[in-house]
Amino acid sequence: MIRFSHVSKRYPSGHDALRSVSFHLPKGSMSFLAGHSGAGKSTLLRLITHAITPTRGEINIDEQNISRIKPRQIPLHRRKIGCVFQDHKLLYDRSVFDNVALPLIVSGATQRDTGRRVRAALDKVQLLDKEKSMPITLSGGQQQRVGIARAVVSSPKILLADEPTGNLDAELSDQIMHLFYEFNHHDVTVLIATHDQRYLQDPSTPLLTLQEGRLITGQAQDKTEHDEAQQETQPEPENNPATTTPNPAPADEQ
Ligand SMILES: Nc1ncnc2c1ncn2[C@@H]1O[C@H](COP(=O)(O)OP(=O)(O)O)[C@@H](O)[C@H]1O
Ligand SMILES: [Mg+2]
Repeated sequence: MIRFSHVSKRYPSGHDALRSVSFHLPKGSMSFLAGHSGAGKSTLLRLITHAITPTRGEINIDEQNISRIKPRQIPLHRRKIGCVFQDHKLLYDRSVFDNVALPLIVSGATQRDTGRRVRAALDKVQLLDKEKSMPITLSGGQQQRVGIARAVVSSPKILLADEPTGNLDAELSDQIMHLFYEFNHHDVTVLIATHDQRYLQDPSTPLLTLQEGRLITGQAQDKTEHDEAQQETQPEPENNPATTTPNPAPADEQ
């Protein structure tokens, strides 16, 4: 579902944020993206959404080479992806309902469809009773759940989260992570950037670890395709070699 082949990103400043990164995350998998601040995590996520483009290498998302995507195809590409950010990026002058409805309004959904989908998304994050509230009146954890509802309201195939629990205490973080696991059970491919060690130690969730723009663990193997070109000399994994195994694939529900 998400495949990077020798992807490098050099910012105009000359800084190499990613260096020849290759991995494959199968459809329906859930993985963590780890690494110190500045390691390249946000850069990697922004490449997936095509917010930025790679300097080198190829990125395939849902079997489409987005390195060569035409500008008019970008909105369709983005609709496949829901994004959750550490700072929620909510609109504070709009209600919870309006915030969650935003992606649907952008994509031209009917009013009836919008209402139905927004309520379903709010129900999943247990905020159905808050649809008329303004975000400012909600707690940090609730605001993050509004952000998650907005990310999933269009039923994306892929859910990306950039340090979604960064501002939350342990209990609220667990609630948020639990939601991601739930979406993953519904066959959504999930990738979460975090440096919360409590989650990174879970051996059942594959881990991609970046260090100064290089992938040092977690080059999840792709069993479905022979792609010798992708074989890359890997620095020895520093930690957690067990996590290089891909997630157990969900049953083929679709
Ligand atoms: N727009 C940019 N222009 C120049 N350098 C950038 C830009 N965005 C990020 N960087 C640099 O690229 C490196 C990786 O950044 P980032 O992907 O944000 O890392 P992380 O999310 O792991 O903290 C950092 O050194 C950062 O300073
Ligand atoms: Mg970041």
